[in-house]
Amino acid sequence: MFRLRSWMFVPGNSLKMITKSFGLDLDVAMLDVEDGVVPELKAEARTLVAEALAWPKERVNPLRYVRVNAIDTGELQADLDAVVVPGLDGIVLPKTETIENVHQVAAMLDDLEEQRGMPSGGVKVVLALESAKALIAAPQLATASSRVAGLCFGAEDYSKDLGLSVVRTGVARDFTYARSAIVVAATAARIASIDGVWPELSDSEGLHGDSVVARDLGFTGKSMIHPGQLAIINQVFSPTADEIAYAEDLIADFKLASREGRGSISFRGQLVDLPIYERALRTIAAGTRSKQMEKSK
Ligand code: COA
Ligand code: MG
Repeated sequence: MFRLRSWMFVPGNSLKMITKSFGLDLDVAMLDVEDGVVPELKAEARTLVAEALAWPKERVNPLRYVRVNAIDTGELQADLDAVVVPGLDGIVLPKTETIENVHQVAAMLDDLEEQRGMPSGGVKVVLALESAKALIAAPQLATASSRVAGLCFGAEDYSKDLGLSVVRTGVARDFTYARSAIVVAATAARIASIDGVWPELSDSEGLHGDSVVARDLGFTGKSMIHPGQLAIINQVFSPTADEIAYAEDLIADFKLASREGRGSISFRGQLVDLPIYERALRTIAAGTRSKQMEKSK
C-alpha cells in the first residue's frame, strides 16, 4: 500500500469545503459527520456526504473516507446506511475501545456491501484511538479485522480522558507514550499510523515541529483541519531530494558490493547492511509516490 501522508477533516455539512478538499493535493479527505457537525445538522450532512461520494473521481487522490459517529451514539447505523455507497474508500471509527466495537462495525459493513452489490471487504476502517482504554487495546484493535487499515491518534479526546491542559505545548511531551504505542501497534499489524491534528491554525512553525516529531516517532501520516496545513504535512512525510539522492547512491554501491559477495559496506563513513539498504529502497518508493501524486494534479 502506498504511504498516505495527509488526512484532512472536512465538515460534512459544507458543500464548499467538500468540493475544495477533492481538488487539493491531499491523500485522504475525511468527510466528517461526527464532532465537526452539530447534532441538528447531522442528517443534512449525511445526505450531502453521500452525494459527494458519488461525484466522479477525476484523479486518484484524495481517497474518500467518512468519519462516522461512534457506536454508542445511536447514530452509526444511519450514518452507514447513508454513506456505504460506491465511491466510499473507508470510514474512520471514532472512540474505538474494544475488539467487539470493531467486529460489530465490520458486520454492519458486510451486510451493507452485500445488499448494495459492493465488493466484499472493500470499505476500509481506520480506528481513532482517543482514550487510555483504547491505547491499552491498540495491538488487538489493529488486528481485529482485515478491514482495519490504520490507527489514528485522537489527541484532543485523549487529553480530555487524561485531564490534560486545554492549551497544548509545542513539545507535547505528554503525548510521547501514546503516540509511540499507536505507531508500534500499527506497524506490527502492517497498517497505517496517523498522528493527531495540530490545532493552532496560524502557527505553521508549530505545525512543522509537531509533524517532524510525528514522522520521527514512525507515524506514516498526520491528520489536519485546514488546507493551509497541507503543504507542510506532505513535505514532512515525503523524502527530500537529498534523501532520495543519498538513497540512490547507497543502493548502487550496495548492489555492486553484493555482486562481489560482500554483505555490508562502508558508505560515506556509515556501515550499510541489508536493513539499511532496504530502508533506502523504501525511501525511493515513497519519493516515486510523491512524484506520481504531483503529476496526477
Ligand atoms: N476542509 C476543506 N476546506 C476547508 C477546510 C477544511 N477542513 N477548512 C477551511 N477550508 C477552506 C475554506 O472553505 C476556504 O475556502 P475558499 O478559499 O474557497 O473560500 C479556505 O479553505 C480558507 O479557509 P479559512 O477562511 O482560512 O478558514 P475558515 O474560517 O473557512 O474555516 C475552520 C476555519 C477551523 C472553521 C475550518 O478550517 C474547519 O472547519 N476545519 C475543520 C475542523 C474539524 O473538522 N474539526 C473536527 C475534527 S478535529
Ligand atoms: Mg475525537
